[in-house]
Amino acid sequence: MTITYPGAAITGWGLALPDKVVTNADFEARLDTSHEWIVDRTGIHERRHGGTTRGLAVEAGRAALAKSGNDASEIDLLILSTTTPDQAVPATSSAVHDDLGCSGAAFDLNAACAGFVYSLVTAVSMLGVGYRRALVIGSDTLSRITDQEDRGTAVLFADGAGAVVIEARPDHQLLLSHDLGLDGSLASILYCDHGGYIAMEGREVFRRAVRASVDSAVKVLDEANVTADHIALYVPHQANQRIIDAAVQRLGLHSKKSAIVLDRTGNTSSGSMGIALAEAADEGRLSDGDLVLLSGFGAGMTWASAVLRWGS
Ligand code: ACO
Repeated sequence: MTITYPGAAITGWGLALPDKVVTNADFEARLDTSHEWIVDRTGIHERRHGGTTRGLAVEAGRAALAKSGNDASEIDLLILSTTTPDQAVPATSSAVHDDLGCSGAAFDLNAACAGFVYSLVTAVSMLGVGYRRALVIGSDTLSRITDQEDRGTAVLFADGAGAVVIEARPDHQLLLSHDLGLDGSLASILYCDHGGYIAMEGREVFRRAVRASVDSAVKVLDEANVTADHIALYVPHQANQRIIDAAVQRLGLHSKKSAIVLDRTGNTSSGSMGIALAEAADEGRLSDGDLVLLSGFGAGMTWASAVLRWGS
């Protein structure tokens, strides 16, 4: 099936991280773990803890708006990807909408760590039914739902937000292909009950994550009619450096093309890919016309990939 995507461009990007740095040494001091184990098995050196999903989202959203040159009142669609809303009701996007002063529609979207790509694809699709400017934010505060005494999860999960402004642009095709999916029968390998902590079968998640993100990435490369060689920047979900390395190898990508923040941020769920994309864009790693491959997976078990053309 040939899909005609609405013309669009990413015109702004931003990120937000809490001030508090939690190092591997901090865990080493109180849990049965070591800096060497954490770096070797995950690639994480430090992560940030603190803030609220709303506060981090507002900060990242403001940065993206400033970069795009738009006033918040010109935003007619706000999508907040989060798996850690500040309240059960109302959606955290309503507070973010108010804090920023956006216009129009706003909603939360929960597709766990694949949520940023789910939101981006949703936003571009909605530009096709008349919305003009979307603010897509991925914001999560996983440290709040992580048992800090559980060495199997505490060293991984952290807090942060990434955001992009996506504007309707009839003459630029941002989205070349996409793949959104999930296998709900795998919900039990990674979940968190209300009021509880994240429970995870790490090894099983690892195995499934590599397979799901590689299959999904291959699909979007094929659908965009491009190969790994055409990709200028690979933005994977930042969960484990070994998962990223396995995907890079299987996809035939050059590792230098990966956008990596995991070593400094840990796994920030919905925040992760937006943070990595924003940092790469800030570092000048993207030029007009460059192709970007986004690919992630998360609880659900969800997965999502997309090929984007950078520029406006
Ligand atoms: N320090 C030291 N030892 C540890 C630690 C730690 N922090 N955590 C676990 N171990 C131990 C285990 O208890 C186990 O000990 P045992 O053999 O005595 O039972 C041993 O290390 C090996 O455990 P494994 O689970 O096999 O270790 P593995 O190499 O698979 O690494 C990890 C564990 C890092 C959790 C890995 O499986 C992983 O990253 N899985 C994917 C997790 C993930 O991506 N989650 C998020 C997905 S979606 C989202 O982002 C919300």
